[in-house]
Amino acid sequence: MKNILVIGATGQIGSELTLKLREIYGNTHVVCGYIPSAKPRGELRESGPFEICDVTNPEQIATVVLKHHVDTIYNLAALLSVVAEGRPQLAWKIGIDGLWNVLEVAREHECAVFTPSSIGSFGPETPRNNVPQDTIQRPTTIYGVSKVTTELLSDYYYRKYGVDTRSVRFPGLISYVTPPGGGTTDYACDIYYSAVRGEKFTCPIGKGTYMDMMYMPDALRACVELMEADPYRLIHRNAFNIAAMSFDPEGVFNAIKKYKPEFEMDYDVDPLKQANADSWPNSLSDVAAQQEWDWKAEYDLDKMTVDMLAKLREKLIR
Ligand code: SER
Repeated sequence: MKNILVIGATGQIGSELTLKLREIYGNTHVVCGYIPSAKPRGELRESGPFEICDVTNPEQIATVVLKHHVDTIYNLAALLSVVAEGRPQLAWKIGIDGLWNVLEVAREHECAVFTPSSIGSFGPETPRNNVPQDTIQRPTTIYGVSKVTTELLSDYYYRKYGVDTRSVRFPGLISYVTPPGGGTTDYACDIYYSAVRGEKFTCPIGKGTYMDMMYMPDALRACVELMEADPYRLIHRNAFNIAAMSFDPEGVFNAIKKYKPEFEMDYDVDPLKQANADSWPNSLSDVAAQQEWDWKAEYDLDKMTVDMLAKLREKLIR
């Protein structure tokens, strides 16, 4: 990777990944691609090049790729699961028509492409626990339908045209930097904000609902390590299960209570979020990622909780 374009660079993952990539590959080598309704600000804007790059506009993508001699595209434009369910056609347009645009540009200009998949790519018929790498994927959400299609289309472009496509199935991502917005797993991030603000947290996901989660530093490292992985070791490509921790609302609540004993939580279950969560697995097996590119998460629930509470205290209270 010499010159990188991040599409969706101002979003939940992009806002942090772009800065991490600039740290590794040099500021001038990483282009922040954004849409006008989500402009880059602060460090993201000041530390390197930025270009309007709408994933639904193939000419725009090609222009930026040519101008910056891009050889790797991180295609992060997407709607999260709850928002997508409200706007299924838009979710498809961004997720799949957008991916098609990216893959075509990548084919023509010989770029590698990373497009995230998700735990949402699984459905009710998938085994619930320790989900194997290769298994049934019959999702019931439009988010999941678009993620499975992403995986298939990316593999297709690799097989048919040799485009170097790679991907991971992200768990719910937790970060103190950019809030997710519109996902089913957002509660696992929001709960920390409430705890640090000294507020009671009302949980939209029911007790006993387990989902895989991951702290953002691990997620960012996964993106980079997979794209740097030796291609001859990769048996799979789109997309690898990766895992770090699996918990239900009580699990994360108790982890926070250990450090904030006064913290309180009650429940007001959101039926759409709950239906999404119920259709997703409890936990994934990431053995293939371990074997093929030495993946290993660094943060478990306790280590993440200590860091989240400290970083949010700095962000919200100082
Ligand atoms: N975090 C996503 C969501 O909740 C799932 O990958 O929509």
